[in-house]
Amino acid sequence: MFPQSRPRRLRARPNIRDLIRETELSVRDLVYPLFVNENLTAPKEIGSMPGIRSLPVSELGEEARSVEALGIPAVLLFGVPSRKDPKGTSADDPDGIVQRAIREIRKVSEITIITDLCLCEYTDHGHCGMLRGDDVDNDSTLDRYAAIAVSQARAGADMIAPSGMMDGQVAAIREGLDRSGFENIPIMSYAAKYASSFYGPFRDAAESTPQHGDRRSHQMDPGNAREALREMGLDIEEGADILMVKPALPYLDIVHRARERFNVPLAAYQVSGEYSMIKAAAENGWIDHDRAMMESLQSIKRAGADFIITYFAKEAARVVGE
Ligand code: PBG
Repeated sequence: MFPQSRPRRLRARPNIRDLIRETELSVRDLVYPLFVNENLTAPKEIGSMPGIRSLPVSELGEEARSVEALGIPAVLLFGVPSRKDPKGTSADDPDGIVQRAIREIRKVSEITIITDLCLCEYTDHGHCGMLRGDDVDNDSTLDRYAAIAVSQARAGADMIAPSGMMDGQVAAIREGLDRSGFENIPIMSYAAKYASSFYGPFRDAAESTPQHGDRRSHQMDPGNAREALREMGLDIEEGADILMVKPALPYLDIVHRARERFNVPLAAYQVSGEYSMIKAAAENGWIDHDRAMMESLQSIKRAGADFIITYFAKEAARVVGE
């Protein structure tokens, strides 16, 4: 009780604040997403994501090396193919864009390569799976996901991250990987992925906006928290090694509840819209860029994430390295 109790005593000096800080962000907590686009011959700025570029395969090696040199342990790879069709056949082509990208990175870098696994970048209709009528058909999509996972693993992926939100996708991918001798390749499941407006800028970069309809038949309703825990429980039973919550900042309660409930490692994805909001406000001089960036990342870790997938990874690495 006051006056004996004075919390300000511990805030009076920087050194004491440093000693008692409960959450510290490290460069080892960061994963950097990379976009590789088969249509490009030179890097291309993504207008809605200042500082982020789509890259041709030829630039990936150098980019991966510079990310690795900053101490960032892993990249999350997204591919944009030149050819799209209803089944997304280029997604599991041994010479597909992601498969080539993996080999290109491997030539020059030991960085951990995580591959996003979805069909929305590869289908001409832009949906995350096979269509039946206007609907995404769950079960025929699972076979496609398993084939893509095996193809990515064969090309040298270190970890597979399925983001399509089909029921049973983790089990299907686990079985496919195991059958092909990839029983040691972990699965990071986008377990609680919400139907979020914050993916807007990403869809520009990945050219993956659905031609009709939206993703609400498979991505989660933003009003639901218990359902997220159910999704996560199912994914653990199906064999997920790491769970992910996405987006991060608007869903910190989900991160926190997942941390309390489950004993597997937990990732959070600070998505494109979260990044672009901070960039836009900072460019207008309305907030301090580095402080807002670090505060958002720290809050995600404080909520319980073990690591964070973020477009800020390189800039944050420089700040924590200082
Ligand atoms: C689907 C996928 C999406 C994101 C990651 N994987 C987009 C979507 O579901 O529409 C979004 C990432 C971001 O916004 O940064 N392949």
